[in-house]
Amino acid sequence: MHIGIIMDGNGRWATARALPRTAGHHAGVRAARRIVESAVRADVDVLTLYAFSADNWGRPRTEVSALMRLLRRSLDVEAKRCEENGVRLTIVGRRDRLPNMLRVAVEDAEERTRAGTNLHLRVAVDYSARDAILRAAAAAAASPEQPLTRERFSALLAAVHHDPEPVPDVDLLIRTGGEQRLSDFLLWECAYAELHFVRRMWPDFGEDDFLAALHEFQARDRRFGAVGQQAAAG
Ligand code: IPE
Ligand code: IPE
Ligand code: MG
Repeated sequence: MHIGIIMDGNGRWATARALPRTAGHHAGVRAARRIVESAVRADVDVLTLYAFSADNWGRPRTEVSALMRLLRRSLDVEAKRCEENGVRLTIVGRRDRLPNMLRVAVEDAEERTRAGTNLHLRVAVDYSARDAILRAAAAAAASPEQPLTRERFSALLAAVHHDPEPVPDVDLLIRTGGEQRLSDFLLWECAYAELHFVRRMWPDFGEDDFLAALHEFQARDRRFGAVGQQAAAG
């Protein structure tokens, strides 16, 4: 089971409380920690959290640098927790544009948590699904002698965004904050994902909300283009 989450609404959460947007991002980190723990308890295999998109570089410089500092500090703290809880932590996205201190923290966190088997936590940073697809396509074009299958493309995609190996497609995609869009997240991997949009802002999203999303997902009839279970039985 692979769950993707677009953790949206930190800024609005803070603004509604007359706090700076950065306070929302701090609260967002605490929410992420709770959901990672819930995911371990719920036996989720892979959890991918969208933390910073390639387009988020376009935000005001002060917000971007606050986010980079927060990411770095959180990675250090969370890697330790992940290590204790048997969670493997990896970062997906580009790395060449990250501040040096963050790149070092990323490599450190991945190294420390490599042996985790309870959950594979992927955090998307400087991530753009379209850019990743383009780069994977370029890699495919560079070795035309190899037949291009979906499996091979998934492997190329994993390589360009630094996944240690391809992960299964997303089963359930959750977006908080009320918007109903993908914002360039996991476009290839979400081909048959069930979509779950919630109004609640990310800092307020808790285990109850997470379990409610899982519960609703379990009741859905995933057909993958075939006929439904009821139709097949009848
Ligand atoms: C999501 O919250 C976190 C990041 C994109 C880093 P936002 O910062 O987008 O919060 P809103 O959507 O402005 O409320
Ligand atoms: C998507 O949220 C990126 C993350 C949650 C990290 P945005 O807030 O950047 O997306 P848009 O701008 O509303 O589409
Ligand atoms: Mg947003």
